Amino acid sequence: MCGIIGIISSKESKKLSEITISALKRLEYRGYDSVGVASLSSKGIEVRKAKGTVEQVTLKKKIPEMSGYIFLGHTRWATHGAPSDYNAHPHTDCSGRIAVIHNGTIKNFKELRAELESLGHKFNSETDTEVIPHLIEEFIKRGMDSFTAFKSAIKSLDGSYAVLAIIDGEKRIFFAKRDNPLVIGLGEGENYIASDIPAFLPYTKRILVISDGEIGFLTNTSVYIEDLNGNVVDVHKRIRIVDWDVETASKEGYAHFMIKEIHESPKAVRDTISSLMSDLDVVEKISEEIRQAERVIVTGAGTSYHAGLYFSLLLTREGITSIPLIASEYYNVKGKRGDLIIAISQSGETIDVLQSIRKLKSEGAKVVSITNVIESAIARESDYKIYMRAGPEIGVAATKTFTTQVASLLFLYSYAFGKDWKALKDADKEVEQAINATEGFAKRVGEELAKKQNIYYLGRGLSLPLAMEGALKIKEVSYVHAEAYPAGESKHGPISLVESGFPIVFINDGEMPELLKNNVMEMKARGGKIYMISVNRKLGEAELEIFLNSKFPALSISPVIQLIAYYAAVSKGLDPDKPRNLAKTVTVE
Ligand code: F6R
Repeated sequence: MCGIIGIISSKESKKLSEITISALKRLEYRGYDSVGVASLSSKGIEVRKAKGTVEQVTLKKKIPEMSGYIFLGHTRWATHGAPSDYNAHPHTDCSGRIAVIHNGTIKNFKELRAELESLGHKFNSETDTEVIPHLIEEFIKRGMDSFTAFKSAIKSLDGSYAVLAIIDGEKRIFFAKRDNPLVIGLGEGENYIASDIPAFLPYTKRILVISDGEIGFLTNTSVYIEDLNGNVVDVHKRIRIVDWDVETASKEGYAHFMIKEIHESPKAVRDTISSLMSDLDVVEKISEEIRQAERVIVTGAGTSYHAGLYFSLLLTREGITSIPLIASEYYNVKGKRGDLIIAISQSGETIDVLQSIRKLKSEGAKVVSITNVIESAIARESDYKIYMRAGPEIGVAATKTFTTQVASLLFLYSYAFGKDWKALKDADKEVEQAINATEGFAKRVGEELAKKQNIYYLGRGLSLPLAMEGALKIKEVSYVHAEAYPAGESKHGPISLVESGFPIVFINDGEMPELLKNNVMEMKARGGKIYMISVNRKLGEAELEIFLNSKFPALSISPVIQLIAYYAAVSKGLDPDKPRNLAKTVTVE
C-alpha cells in the first residue's frame, strides 16, 4: 500500500508544492518508508525523492522550493525493492520527460523489464513501477500520441495499480486504476487525484471515485474517463459531495482503524497468496529446508507467536520436530546446526524476535522470516524471507496481519507437504464470507463480554492458537481479563472459577467435536455461559453459536475473534486503535 496524490493547476507556482506536502502528510498512514515529488513546469519535469518520512524528505530535499503547474507526490510502502532513495517514487523514463507514481504490484514486471532492457532502456531501481514510464516512452517512440501510449502501457501490465503519469509538454495527469483506490477531487481551476479523499479534503469536497479498469486524464478544469470497454464515462453523473472531516475520511467512513483493517483482511489475504504464488522459487526452497531440518523452531511475540504456534502444530502433525518459542524466552532453547528458525513478525523490528534469531543463528541455525514490513531488521537478518502483503496496519492490535500470517503459513505448510496449496487462491473469499456472516453475532457477543470481569477462551488442536489470540485481542482492547486454555486442560484447574454466568468462548474448528462437547457440558453443568464459534460442525449446547462452512477454518475464525474484541471495546467507550500501555512496535527487551 502506498499513498499517491496528483494536483493540476492553471498557473505555475510554489503553492502546489505546499499542497502536495500537506496531502502526503495525510496519506502517510498508507506507507511511510520513502517519499518523492515530481513537478512539471515550463522547464520540464523535476523529481526530488529520498528514503524517510514526509517531514524528513521535505526538509532534506527542499521540496517547498519546487514550482510547477502539475505536481505528483508519493509516500511508499515497499513491495518490490527495499526502502531506499533510488526505489522511492516517482520513477522516470530514460529521457526524464515522463514521471510515474504507482500504488500496487505489477506481477509481470520482470518480463517487461527484460524486454525493455533488450530495447536499450536503462533502469535505476529495483521496483516493479519503473517499467511503466519506460513502456510509455517506448510507445511514444513508436509514434503513438501520449494518451494512446499511456493506455498501451497500462494494457501491458498484469497486476494491481493506481497509477498517475505526467509527460513533459502535456497539461494533463494520466491515470489508471485496478484493485487499488483512486479518487478525483474537483476544485476551482485546480483538480486533484489521490489514493484517498483526505489527501485533498481541505481544498474540495466535490469528488469522483474511479472504478476498476477505468483509465483517463485530468486537466485543471476537466476529467476524461474511459471504462473497461473503451466507452466514455459521463463524469457529471458520478460527482458527489462528501461531508467527512479529514479523520473520518482516512478511516474511509469506518469509526476506527481496527474495524477498517478487519474489513481489509480479504484483500490482504488475496494479495498475500498471490504474492506467494508468484514467488514459488522461494517457497520451494523454504519447503525443502523445512522437510530437511532436524528441528523447526517457530518464534514470534504476542499475536505473531499465536500464528507461529498454529504453524508449529501443523508441522508436528506431519511428524516434524517443531518447537513453538515465545521470542522473549529464547534463552531456553539451545540452537544447533540442522535447526531451522521460522521468525514471524508484523513489524519485523520486535527486539525479542531479533534476539531469538540472533542467538539461535549464532548456534548454527538457518532463519526464515515472515514479516509485513519489507527489508525490516528481521528480514535483513534472515537467510530466506517471505512477506505478508497486508499493507500498513495502523490499529495497535494486530488484525489483518494475523490473518495474513496464518494464510502465509498455511500456504507454506500446504506447499511443503503436498496438500492442495492452489486452493488457497480462494482463501480471501472465505475470510470475506466470515466477516459478512458474523459481524452481527460478534457485536452481540462483544457487547455481552464487555460487561464481564473474566472470560475463558477454549479450543482443542488447531483451535488453541485461535483461542489464545481471541483472549489476547479482547484483553488488550477492552481490558476484560481473558485467558485461553486447551479445552481438555480446563478441567485441571481453570474450571474452579466457573459459576453461574461465567462466560466461555469455545472455538470449534470442526475437529474432535465429541471431545469438545464433553468440555462444553462440563462448563454448562457449573453454570457457564457458552458462546461458540463453529466451523464445519455445529455443536449446539451454546447460549449463542455462530456456524460457518469453510475450507480454511483458521482463516474464517480469525476475523470473528477480532470483531468480538472490537465490539467489546467500543461498547465500553474505549478507543480500540490505541489501547493503553501498548505500542505497535516493541523495541525494548
Ligand atoms: C497484539 C499485538 C502484539 C504483537 C507483538 C509482536 O495485537 O499486536 O502482541 O503481535 O508485539 O509484534 P510483531 O508482530 O510486530 O513482531
